[in-house]
Amino acid sequence: MKRFFTICATVLIWAAPATAQDAGAGADLYARHCATCHGADAQGNGPMAPALVLQPPALNTLSARNDGVFPVVRVVMRTDGRDPLVSHGSPMPIYGPFFEGNDTPLKAETGQPIMTSRPIVDLVAFLRQIQQ
Ligand code: HEC
Repeated sequence: MKRFFTICATVLIWAAPATAQDAGAGADLYARHCATCHGADAQGNGPMAPALVLQPPALNTLSARNDGVFPVVRVVMRTDGRDPLVSHGSPMPIYGPFFEGNDTPLKAETGQPIMTSRPIVDLVAFLRQIQQ
């Protein structure tokens, strides 16, 4: 059943217009920028994790740890650096300037749109897809 939904989601993403989320591009970004800490399989066990004082959490259990709802706003704000926690001593790098530009709205879990950048929209699409 999970596989069925994954296929549906993939088809929907492909069939959607160019402005839609691109989980494939998100997967590439994840592999390049996030996997060293959060792990290639997003289980929080990347090669850099042992060197960090604060352990990177698994990113494939974000929904499971949030009553089954994917925490869009939290993920966006942690990744673009708007979350003050990031700018105050977290080992998590600030990607805001790096992923800047191409303002794109993303539907938050509340139904309200949240503005972020195109790469972060793609990253969110990828992370959503790998939730257990
Ligand atoms: C240098 C290691 C490192 C890299 C690279 C990194 N992170 Fe993190 N990340 C962390 C650590 C450590 C935490 C936990 C501490 C914290 O919350 O600040 C974290 C926390 C998070 C959280 C919060 C999770 C939660 O349960 O609320 C999200 C979302 C996240 N990272 C996404 C990403 C994404 C997306 C990327 C790639 C663009 C990335 N991280 C790259 C180390 C990293």
